[in-house]
Amino acid sequence: MKQLNVIITGANSGIGKAAAIRFAKEGHTVIMACRNRGKSEPVRAEIENLSGNNRVHLEEMDMSSIASIRSFCESYRSKYKELDILIHNAAYFNHGAPYKQSVDGIEITFATNVIGPFLMTMLLRDLLSESDDARVLHAGSNIIKHFLNPKKEIDLEQLQNEPEDPRSHSVYINYRNSKMALLMLTFKMAEEFKEDGINIYSLQINGATMSKDALMKVKPHWRIIARVQNLFFRPPEFTANLYYEICTSDRFRELSGVHLNHKLEVMQPAKTGAGIITDIKQGLGADVYPAYALNTGMVNKIWGVCSELTKSAAETSQ
Ligand SMILES: NC(=O)c1ccc[n+]([C@@H]2O[C@H](COP(=O)([O-])OP(=O)(O)OC[C@H]3O[C@@H](n4cnc5c(N)ncnc54)[C@H](OP(=O)(O)O)[C@@H]3O)[C@@H](O)[C@H]2O)c1
Repeated sequence: MKQLNVIITGANSGIGKAAAIRFAKEGHTVIMACRNRGKSEPVRAEIENLSGNNRVHLEEMDMSSIASIRSFCESYRSKYKELDILIHNAAYFNHGAPYKQSVDGIEITFATNVIGPFLMTMLLRDLLSESDDARVLHAGSNIIKHFLNPKKEIDLEQLQNEPEDPRSHSVYINYRNSKMALLMLTFKMAEEFKEDGINIYSLQINGATMSKDALMKVKPHWRIIARVQNLFFRPPEFTANLYYEICTSDRFRELSGVHLNHKLEVMQPAKTGAGIITDIKQGLGADVYPAYALNTGMVNKIWGVCSELTKSAAETSQ
């Protein structure tokens, strides 16, 4: 098999680390894009030892910072020259944390989970287009099921404005919205990048056991919930293997702009107004995603916000 260049964001723990191990074991060149060198270097060394692959690299990048993403992409270009696979795995989900903005003045959940991946893919688009089998994967979440309720929609009110009443802020809701926005970007980017031969995928993750480190990021009452969930969730390696399949298997080569479930089936938009039995089945199953993901007005709004914020923030950071 051809040796591929793979960037995995947030590859120092959980699913990202497990994916880095899998790609390294298969002999690919792995670039771990992580924000904390001190914490991530021992992980890089561990992956190198485990895999026997000395092409496991660590590059610093803070996914919530436009300047950091720009600097990563610039240095990547000159150092590695080629890119085949880009996995947007890093995410902010510090449930229970107070409202916080990124260095660019963007609400931190949206900055990390939506704006960052958008900008990074855009900046690496030309390199990806030179690969004969370029694939970009977005780590999605079943939290978007909330949008099966037609009353739910993405509210961008807090995107750049701290709410007056702190109780009206919730990382959980922003995380839910960010993962829906990321799915919308999957569909839109697939269209935009068709001519470049770049395939864009989204994987709906139903849960993966959280590491001790990840558990410590959420507030104590969320930690209790997460610990209970950990008893039922699959290990990170399960999802990491799905990442590997989506990014390397021939069966996905001709597919783009798809949302895949844990069985690697292409999910379909949910039926609306089909009755309570259908609603329950859709809510419990993993066959459909909320039709809201195809809401053209909101898709274009998210695309516009991403373009605008990355443009203006890039200008001010120069
Ligand atoms: N675990 C689940 O149950 C579950 C369910 C649905 C979806 N997912 C999705 O799966 C993906 C991986 O999650 P996980 O469970 O493996 O969590 P995890 O172990 O906490 O990993 C998250 C990674 O993201 C990194 N990260 C966060 N903010 C960053 C930033 N600003 N810049 C660079 N890296 C940053 C973290 O780095 P630090 O170590 O520096 O913080 C960490 O490496 C996420 O996209 C998550 O939304 C997970």
